[in-house]
Amino acid sequence: MLSREDVARAAQVLKDGGLVAFPTETVYGLGADAENDRAVQRVFEVKGRPSDHPLIVHIAEPSQINDWASDIPHVAHQLAARFWPGPLTLILRSGGRTRHTVTGGQSTVGLRVPAHPVAHALLRAFGGGIAAPSANRFGGVSPTTADHVKRDLGTSVDCILDGGPCAVGIESTILDLSSDEPCILRPGGVTREAIEEEIGAAVLVGKRNNIRAPGLLSSHYAPRAAVVLLAPYELEARVQSEHERGRRVGVLMRGSEAHAVGAEVTVLLPDDHEHIARRLYQALHDLDDQQVDVILTTLPEETGLGMAIADRLRKAAAPR
Ligand code: TXA
Ligand code: MG
Repeated sequence: MLSREDVARAAQVLKDGGLVAFPTETVYGLGADAENDRAVQRVFEVKGRPSDHPLIVHIAEPSQINDWASDIPHVAHQLAARFWPGPLTLILRSGGRTRHTVTGGQSTVGLRVPAHPVAHALLRAFGGGIAAPSANRFGGVSPTTADHVKRDLGTSVDCILDGGPCAVGIESTILDLSSDEPCILRPGGVTREAIEEEIGAAVLVGKRNNIRAPGLLSSHYAPRAAVVLLAPYELEARVQSEHERGRRVGVLMRGSEAHAVGAEVTVLLPDDHEHIARRLYQALHDLDDQQVDVILTTLPEETGLGMAIADRLRKAAAPR
């Protein structure tokens, strides 16, 4: 259990320009004082991420949106009231305290109020905005435990707050509200259906031109092993052909699809989307630990959270 002193110490690390890995309800973040250019620069270095890819600024309260953005449309306040704290990042025109280092030179800023007691306590103790990408090396699988962070980033982080495993397990939904039509740039913990129900209109899903957002690259969220997407009935034959090529095979499938396919390692996922999301990254980390060469898996139905899960699996499977 974390004490108030642990959180106060972490807040001091941020004030001193250091990096703090902290839990959110989605994944662990690698945090820096959003107004300290050198600290933010270090986040890019530690992650191995190009410095023109923007970072999300985490804030303690929805009302602070006004300190970091400008020309805020009504729908942003409406969605913030409905979904914050929670796994929704709003892309707005930047303003106020937002600096170019955080936005990667773009004219917009991503803002989110995380729903995790430790993240909230840290934000309150620190007092400012915390710029934080997922606390993993660029392109890899996001961390959902403090141990994942430790193993991936280790000593390059000044402090790691252990808040246990993340409840949502995949990243926030990124919703671009900086132009006339709301557009989901990355599906995530808040579903498209829930957003559409709140605003009473359809939202687009896809890429906008000229946005440099690594989560939007075709290859991302990738474990060390290669990932191949298949239909359940194709698994067994593919395990065999991978074996003929001398490869060690991991299979990731839902309990309801479970059948013996002859792989060295089989990891079963729960059947409902919420629990798949919570377990997915842990399962990919586990398969890497088991040193498989290739991970064979299937896609869920793409409704609700299934859209975000399928997005992550496709990006993990994309050519690197
Ligand atoms: O759940 C999450 O969103 C986690 C936790 C720590 O909050 N954070 C996270 O950050 O996933 P990151 O940096 O790994 O992914 C954020 C994505 C990136 O693809 C980034 O480029 C995009 O959001 N993004 C951030 N600001 C943006 C902006 N102004 N315009 C377009 N995309 C932006
Ligand atoms: Mg990330």
